[in-house]
Amino acid sequence: MRDAGRTLPRNDPRQYDDLAGEWWRPDGAFAMLHWLAEARAGLVPVASRPDALLVDLGCGAGLLAPHLEGKGYRHLGVDLTVSALRQAAAHGVTVVNADVTAVPLESGCADVVAAGELLEHVPDWRRAVAEACRLLRPGGLLVLDTLNDTALSRLIAVHIGERLPTVPRGIHDPRLFVDDRALVAECARHGVDLRVRGVRPQLTGVLAWLARRARGVTGAPGAAPRIVSTWSTAVLYQGRGVRRG
Ligand SMILES: C[S@@+](CC[C@H](N)C(=O)[O-])C[C@H]1O[C@@H](n2cnc3c(N)ncnc32)[C@H](O)[C@@H]1O
Repeated sequence: MRDAGRTLPRNDPRQYDDLAGEWWRPDGAFAMLHWLAEARAGLVPVASRPDALLVDLGCGAGLLAPHLEGKGYRHLGVDLTVSALRQAAAHGVTVVNADVTAVPLESGCADVVAAGELLEHVPDWRRAVAEACRLLRPGGLLVLDTLNDTALSRLIAVHIGERLPTVPRGIHDPRLFVDDRALVAECARHGVDLRVRGVRPQLTGVLAWLARRARGVTGAPGAAPRIVSTWSTAVLYQGRGVRRG
């Protein structure tokens, strides 16, 4: 279990500064972000043209970067947290320190926009979605994952999840969780037909990971639990949609 170093309100972005040393520890407080980054990258095809651009909104420390290797994108990350952006830059990401609700990039510049574990942290997630869709070129791809605005999600992601060593305590404000139908409708309003599917970490993988971690066997290659699809979007879900036009 890992608490933020000081007592801060839920979802306070300064928590990411306190946890800066955790980002790239595969068994650290952000472990689950590593598993989700791999799954998110699985939704991104090889670039269809030279010099294709992937804009990673709320990129954090750039955990998506290793999973994009060989796919042919320039990886540009946007985030509020400077301590995370420094680490993203060290992993080859071109970084922009900005709010995802007002991104200083040209409309239609992106072949892919990724928004991993971001929207549930943004008080005005609709503005972030509008920006994500604005950045996409016609035919461009939006990929995202987030937490649903349900009682089950609050139970699993906050009350249970934040007691496990895979999620920092206090990192979520459940009032910001994003209803999947509202998200699909908002994307449609901005020209992106989003399809969503429920995902979860594979239970046996998580139990084995927790057991290894308890024995102090950390960072074993290939030992990360896989993210698999599940029948319900009620907790964690991925979205994938193409910009019309
Ligand atoms: C849970 S982390 C996810 C990071 C990364 N996408 C990943 O999956 O590893 C959320 C990130 O969103 C950033 N963030 C939250 N609100 C933001 C905003 N309004 N504008 C830009 N970045 C924001 C935080 O600084 C943090 O790096």
